[in-house]
Amino acid sequence: MNAKRIAVLPGDGIGREVIPQALRVMEAAGAPVQFTEFDWGADRYLADGVTVPPDGFAMLDRDFDAIFVGAFGDPRVATNVHAKEILLGMRFKMDLYANVRPVRLLDSSLCPLKGIEPKDIDFVVLRENTEGVYTDAGGVFKQGTEDEIAIQEDINTYKGVARIIRYAFEYAERNPRLDGGPRKSVLLCDKSNAMTHAGGLWQRVFREISSGYPQITPKHMYVDALCMQMVRDPRQFDVIVTNNMFGDIITDLAAGLQGGLGMAASGNIHPGRTSMFEPVHGSAPPIAGKNVANPFGAILTGAMMLRHLSLSAEADRIEAAVLNAVQQKKTTQDLGGALGTREASEWVLARAQRV
Ligand code: NAD
Ligand code: IPM
Ligand code: MN
Repeated sequence: MNAKRIAVLPGDGIGREVIPQALRVMEAAGAPVQFTEFDWGADRYLADGVTVPPDGFAMLDRDFDAIFVGAFGDPRVATNVHAKEILLGMRFKMDLYANVRPVRLLDSSLCPLKGIEPKDIDFVVLRENTEGVYTDAGGVFKQGTEDEIAIQEDINTYKGVARIIRYAFEYAERNPRLDGGPRKSVLLCDKSNAMTHAGGLWQRVFREISSGYPQITPKHMYVDALCMQMVRDPRQFDVIVTNNMFGDIITDLAAGLQGGLGMAASGNIHPGRTSMFEPVHGSAPPIAGKNVANPFGAILTGAMMLRHLSLSAEADRIEAAVLNAVQQKKTTQDLGGALGTREASEWVLARAQRV
């Protein structure tokens, strides 16, 4: 088999610590992959002002099978312009419309809720990834005066809403639960009681599309109530579909159920096109460079990418090795272990290795 061509963008902060470890694990697992690294990030931007080189996104799309990303964000770049242009640039300009964020609990010791076991948390958040308030449409008038007006528009298009909702129903049909059982419901998370224009569109399109999937139960929750339910009883969730901003917020909350941001994986997908995979966490500047960041979110993201590339055996081996590390407490401090980023990765690597 030809090696899969992977563009690697470690980015900033802990991205530069966890991504190299995830690459080593994928290689050790025997995945036929060829990595090409790019230096896009804060250092490059501060050195020459370039965030994305000319033709950058077209090159990623043309020359690679997938993109593997760390995180962007650096205290020296107060505007965060490089993160906006690189990360949101990939999501928007490459039209990676489905942000897929699986939420799984590997071991009950990782969940802050009492009485919750791995079988109780197995859901996915499908976050619209190209619209909403993230388009940054709007503007400022009379800035710096007491008459200042700041407008941040929430863009919702029929096509954008329809394709992510359809993706959610298709996902439910095609992705059984970890225990092998079928996914039975798709829940729309919105704030249609207050944001009636956008909410009305989402509600109507959700009704329209759900009628084509009679075997899947359509559900609805307002985002505020959903946050409460996620903490009270996460067992009830299966497939959640929501807009860009609510998806951002509830997936950090959901990461809390999994053991923290260091455990959460994600994919930014446009079916049939070069897609992008990144851990949910950011660059975590306060802990960067100290060998304390949890590499498992990045490693599990690597497994997710391999599965997307039809390398399921390698993905399975990596996921099993991470599960084993968690069960044996061979983890970084955020999960209660005593290992560093490199040492926890080594442990996983040794067990993911193809023999
Ligand atoms: P963050 O995810 O970087 O950190 C939030 C908290 O979680 C911190 O306490 C951090 O120490 C902890 N944490 C995160 N990842 C961890 C890991 N792997 N191991 C152990 N602990 C971990 O979010 P933030 O602090 O809000 O943002 C920091 C910077 O990262 C900002 O510039 C932000 O814009 C950026 N950011 C980027 C991305 C991305 O590129 N995908 C995502 C989120 C935040
Ligand atoms: C994420 C991050 C990004 C987002 C930031 C860095 C713009 O928080 O990937 O969850 O809000 O989408
Ligand atoms: Mn986020």
